[in-house]
Amino acid sequence: MKNIVILISGRGSNMEALIKAREQGELPVNIAAVISNQASAKGLETAANAGIATRVLAHGDFPTREAFDAALCDVIDPFSPDLVVLAGFMRILTPAFVKHYENRLFNIHPSLLPAFPGLHTHRQALAAGVTTHGCTVHFVTAELDHGPIVIQASVPVLADDDEARLAARVLHEEHRIYPQAVRWFAEGRLQVVNGLVQVAAAEPGARQG
Ligand code: GAR
Repeated sequence: MKNIVILISGRGSNMEALIKAREQGELPVNIAAVISNQASAKGLETAANAGIATRVLAHGDFPTREAFDAALCDVIDPFSPDLVVLAGFMRILTPAFVKHYENRLFNIHPSLLPAFPGLHTHRQALAAGVTTHGCTVHFVTAELDHGPIVIQASVPVLADDDEARLAARVLHEEHRIYPQAVRWFAEGRLQVVNGLVQVAAAEPGARQG
């Protein structure tokens, strides 16, 4: 079974969706550890309650981004991850970190990339007047909020939406597509060819995604 390590910075609801999918037998992975750069991250408690190893590495304790990312690799690697899953991990990653986990680093972003990279994506979507918004799971590359797209889900933007209502509608879809993407990875069905993700068909008789 593949090992995954999840990185969080806060609430951890996407992490929780992965834990739930695993508990329900829908995600054949071992969640080896949950690591946060914030000691106060609520998700740490959720992970510990689920019996998952947790670690905290405070970025403020390091003089540079490079030093933090190198130390983070040293915390992650003993868990032998096949896949590192960024789930609301609010850090810009160094090229060295991204290279180290090349083709085994996932991120979820609350927009239909390449639209609205960065922060406040729901506010950006409302300001742009788009009628469709959503979320994206992608392999991480050195460019922020870019990289081969694994799966996206879209939601309508409604006339009376505010940021909170739109965020909740998108988050619901995040919780659906992140376990799906990790399951495809765990089943060995993903391949990146010329910067694009190919999803192989499921084995005959296997559970359909
Ligand atoms: C999620 O909406 C996730 O897509 C977003 O942070 C939230 C974390 O929520 N990530 C980013 O914006 C990364 N660029 P969670 O802690 O409840 O999973």
